[in-house]
Amino acid sequence: STNVQWGGRFSESTDAFVAAFTASVGFDRRLYRYDIEGSIAHASMLGKVGVLTADERDQIIAGLQAVMADIEQGAFEWSVALEDVHMNVEKALTDRIGAVGKKLHTGRSRNDQVATDIRLYLRDEIDHISAELTRLQQGLVNLAEQEADTIMPGFTHLQSAQPVTFGHHLLAWNEMLERDHGRLRDCRARMNVLPLGAAALAGTTYPIDRQFTADLLGFDGVTENSLDSVSDRDFAIEFGAAASLIMMHLSRMSEELVLWTSAQFGFVELPDRFCTGSSIMPQKKNPDVPELVRGKSGRVFGHLMSLLTLMKSQPLAYNKDNQEDKEPVFDTVDTLAGSLRAFADMVPYIEARRANMKEAAIRGYSTATDLADYLVKKGMPFRDAHEVVGQSVAHGLAQGKDLSEMTLDELQQFSTTIEQDVFDVLTLEGSVAARDHLGGTAPAQVRAAVVRARTRLDQR
Ligand code: ARG
Repeated sequence: STNVQWGGRFSESTDAFVAAFTASVGFDRRLYRYDIEGSIAHASMLGKVGVLTADERDQIIAGLQAVMADIEQGAFEWSVALEDVHMNVEKALTDRIGAVGKKLHTGRSRNDQVATDIRLYLRDEIDHISAELTRLQQGLVNLAEQEADTIMPGFTHLQSAQPVTFGHHLLAWNEMLERDHGRLRDCRARMNVLPLGAAALAGTTYPIDRQFTADLLGFDGVTENSLDSVSDRDFAIEFGAAASLIMMHLSRMSEELVLWTSAQFGFVELPDRFCTGSSIMPQKKNPDVPELVRGKSGRVFGHLMSLLTLMKSQPLAYNKDNQEDKEPVFDTVDTLAGSLRAFADMVPYIEARRANMKEAAIRGYSTATDLADYLVKKGMPFRDAHEVVGQSVAHGLAQGKDLSEMTLDELQQFSTTIEQDVFDVLTLEGSVAARDHLGGTAPAQVRAAVVRARTRLDQR
């Protein structure tokens, strides 16, 4: 016997291995809800334009709803022989309502159907991921407000550079995620057009009303060109790129958290419930969540490369290659959603070890630039000031003293321009407070930035 869906032309049935090899139902069944919603909208449109009678339309829609209920209750038998989610659903519909079910596929192809399904699916997932991103950002902004006055060393080359506030550092993370949210929004907007109506590749001879279907499915419009409609997967690649950037950002945050939770830094404490211990070393508390998120970034970058490579040599229009878009997209969604959830749950409970941060900022001579700026403001050329401060730091290193711990006499060995008021700029508090402009690390600026960040989050 030959395949029920296209048996007419074939003289032998599909090789058993080939059937399994080419089937996608094992993974694309995840799309069933979108497939059925798309079919319901398509049937409604066919009814509206008179290709289906009102009665046929209603039978098909009721049948599709019943199939949906079966799947949701786990009372559905997926068949590999039926290849993919689309043919499984259609066959179940026909089994249930009889011959009228065979009219559903009028004026449509699995090519425009699958392009529609993935868009509907990704649109939903983007909304979920954007919400998780927002939840993470809210946690960061709250923590930033709480830590607006907390001083830590800021780093370049991972060497102590200048003091910053912990709140400022957290808001830097928030800015990365703010751009990510914008990228998801852009990607969603370009994705949200209906390909249905392209049929296999050239359009259809039926008097379809694509805008009607688009409205039912919440699309902003319809695609322009039938060939492009069935072959375009740019939206999946854009999503993969936006997801990769988010994972890259989460990985950078993770790296800092891993460093900061070490005994050598001791800047933050993560809640025990986000960490694990060691079966041999009783003292261990490992920052598993950040480590794993850092590791998981790799697979999302890999999926982006898979999708680009998948598309690079495909001639127009649909090719079976496109079936390979799903697993990378699905795993990107799962990895990203899971990583964001873990971070959004964890961030509100990050505990700053403020004394350690401050101690580290002192140990790193992080106010050296402030001393140079002080000398410049008293008339010394910057290069000379750099030299004076360099000598002062060398002296401090030899004596085991911070700049702020030296006496005025000690400092004046290097320049008589230094006076008693130098001690105002040598403190960590003075240093951060002096960077008091939009984008600067001063506690007052951090608090103002928190207000702006919250306004943006509230306007989403
Ligand atoms: N399972 C297929 C996919 O994921 C559906 C479209 C199949 N179309 C075709 N002409 N074989 O791309």
